[in-house]
Amino acid sequence: MEHRMTVKRAGEFTYDIEWHNTFEGLGNAVEKLSLMSRKACIVTDSTVGPLYLDAVSRQLSPLFETVTSFVFPSGEAQKTLDTVKKLYTHLIEEHYERKDILIALGGGVVGDLTGFTAATYLRGIDFIQIPTTLLSQVDSSVGGKTGVDFDCFKNMVGAFHQPRLVYMSMETLHSLPDVQFSCGMGEVLKSGLIRDLSYYDWTLAHSTELLAREDEALVRMIKGSCLIKKTVVEHDPTEQGERAVLNLGHTIGHAVEKLKHFEMLHGQCVALGTVA
Ligand code: GLY
Repeated sequence: MEHRMTVKRAGEFTYDIEWHNTFEGLGNAVEKLSLMSRKACIVTDSTVGPLYLDAVSRQLSPLFETVTSFVFPSGEAQKTLDTVKKLYTHLIEEHYERKDILIALGGGVVGDLTGFTAATYLRGIDFIQIPTTLLSQVDSSVGGKTGVDFDCFKNMVGAFHQPRLVYMSMETLHSLPDVQFSCGMGEVLKSGLIRDLSYYDWTLAHSTELLAREDEALVRMIKGSCLIKKTVVEHDPTEQGERAVLNLGHTIGHAVEKLKHFEMLHGQCVALGTVA
């Protein structure tokens, strides 16, 4: 299986989102970018690293002189400038230069933090998103919003910085805990509600295949959300207006997240916010 969609805004950015069953296509997908990078740093967390870091490294090693990794403890509590500082230190110690690249391997926390580091290290270097949760596949890996939390303030420090590629391996959804899968479904239903009721209805009608995590149904569903997101961010990449529609449920959701001291997952809070 291989599916592709291009996100494009003339004169500003163009990148592909690719869907595969495994990581086997990653090397080819990265090679097609014709990067000048000599080094690639895979940024991941302590949950995803043990599962997929080796597979991703194996794909990237033939393409770069050096592949390093930076693994931090998983969880929203780590999405801070302290973690970014540690990542800057790693990049400086390993002599990363402006043409080198970061690879975000993980969920929304990893993607947002890696993207922000890429946006700011040496005034901006490239990065690739490899989202491994449903939530990051249907929302946060596409559209270039990057950032970290500051004290109790969610996503308070950040930048718009578009990835060079978004690569999704469906195998990652098979190891995803049910609660994380449900978090992603909250964003899927949000996408349908804001832009496409036929997509929303399709999702409900195919809940059996989706909950059984059948690859074909999952790809169709994720592509549906990415198509809605792509259309919005191509028109309004820096949220001057229209893009705010993607925040349905997020205002109340972020308040719940904060009041619960980030003990509830982001997707659970957004789902509550959407219902509200
Ligand atoms: N998650 C909402 C956005 O990317 O704008």
